[in-house]
Amino acid sequence: MKLHNISVTLLVVLTAILFLTAADCARADADAEPTERLEALMALDRPLVIAHRGYSMAAPENTLPAFRLALWAHSDLVELDYFHSSDGIPVVFHDRTLDRTTNSVELWGKEDVPIASKPYRALRELDAGTWFSEDFAGAHVPTLDEALDVIQSESITLIERKQGDAQTLFELLVEKNMLDDVVVQAFDWDFLADFHDLAPNVPLGALGPPRQADGSRYPRDERYLDTGFLDRLEAAGASVVGWNRQVTPESVKQAQDRGLPVWVYTINEPDEARRLLDMGVDGIITDNPAMLWKVLALREDSTE
Ligand code: G3P
Ligand code: CA
Repeated sequence: MKLHNISVTLLVVLTAILFLTAADCARADADAEPTERLEALMALDRPLVIAHRGYSMAAPENTLPAFRLALWAHSDLVELDYFHSSDGIPVVFHDRTLDRTTNSVELWGKEDVPIASKPYRALRELDAGTWFSEDFAGAHVPTLDEALDVIQSESITLIERKQGDAQTLFELLVEKNMLDDVVVQAFDWDFLADFHDLAPNVPLGALGPPRQADGSRYPRDERYLDTGFLDRLEAAGASVVGWNRQVTPESVKQAQDRGLPVWVYTINEPDEARRLLDMGVDGIITDNPAMLWKVLALREDSTE
């Protein structure tokens, strides 16, 4: 058999193992109601696969196609970001301005337009797919309401608040009867404290490293997760730590000893995923959930 054929065969077999494993892990809860699903996820004895902005390596980030692909890939949770439009509607989007992931400059002839400066009816005219690929031309900027409907049908949403008050998110989740079925996260720990006051039972992820009180970044070597950060994020009501790769085996254990799972973002390289899994992290947030399933499947296989 030629080398090319062997590679293709191996790829097919690995992909099959990968998705069978993924399906087995995830399907245990496929028929469960969302609240049960969230409880089951939090109790799982394996690291969680969390799709970052949807399956954003395969489809334009923070769009409905990216969320559908994340479901197809059996992601345990699907992360998204949201801002408020100028008329107060939570809309799913990552950047403060529209340029990178929409055709706003082409459409309106203006650069650096903040998403928060436009009403949702204007944002709805934007194409949020073509920048990624013609295959996704016409994908729109979804409302948080729409995105929740898609994701919650099969998975759990990890809602990252970029901008907007706690009351509005609380009311939306109450109205949609989803308050007990999602995880909310933010870099702004004051927002988390506000949300915790409104909904003390909702799991909250404190993203870090946070900014200092004056808005500046911590010096590079002070950005590692440590007990000082853990004290503060617990005081804000967080029950999950969402950190970048600046974690250590000691800090992961310190968090876990307090009952705080550690989810690390944004990890797209298999070697880095393996390094963090060796450290014992509880979840990995990735643009490529299939990569992570493959890493997990191969680790599992090698223990037999
Ligand atoms: O889930 C954490 C991660 O999304 C935080 O960074 O910039 O991608 O929102 P960012
Ligand atoms: Ca995010």
